[in-house]
Amino acid sequence: MLSIVTLISGRGSNFEAIVKTAQKERWPVKFAGVIANHSAARGLEFARTEGIPAVVVEHKEHATRESFDEALIEKIDELGADLVVLAGFMRILTPGFIRHFEGRLINIHPALLPAFPGLHTHERALEAGVQEHGATVHFVTEGVDEGPIICQASVPVREGDDADTLAARVLVAEHQIYPRAVKWFLDGRLRIEGNQVKLQPQEPQFFKL
Ligand code: GRF
Repeated sequence: MLSIVTLISGRGSNFEAIVKTAQKERWPVKFAGVIANHSAARGLEFARTEGIPAVVVEHKEHATRESFDEALIEKIDELGADLVVLAGFMRILTPGFIRHFEGRLINIHPALLPAFPGLHTHERALEAGVQEHGATVHFVTEGVDEGPIICQASVPVREGDDADTLAARVLVAEHQIYPRAVKWFLDGRLRIEGNQVKLQPQEPQFFKL
């Protein structure tokens, strides 16, 4: 049975969506642990209620990014992870960390990459006047919010939207595609070819919601 370790910084609603989908669909998977970079991360609570080991690796206790990431690597390896899921983890990871988990490290970004990498994606989408916005699940490589795209979902931008209403619509899409992407990984259906992810057997990797 494959094991997942999830990294969070806050609410943890994507993590929750993945766990609940796994329970509902009876995936043969072990949620080996959740790691947050500070103890106030709300998602830790959900992990505890589910009996999933909830660990804090306090970034403030580390003088450098490298030392924080080394502590993270040690903890993740101790928990045992076939797949590391970044779900609202708000720290920039070092190249060493990314290389260590290459090919088994995935992230969700609240925009249709390559549009709007980085922060404040909903505000920036509204400012840019785009008609569609969305979310992307991708393998993590050394560039921020780059890396082979596993799947995407788009949602419409509506008249009168503000960043909060748009974020809420995108979040619904996130909760649909992140569990799908994780399941594809667990089923061994993802092949990275160059900067593309081929899903085998083929099915749509883009959803219009
Ligand atoms: C999500 O919008 C995700 O795309 C972004 O951070 C947010 C995390 O939300 N990376 P949650 O903690 O999963 O509720």
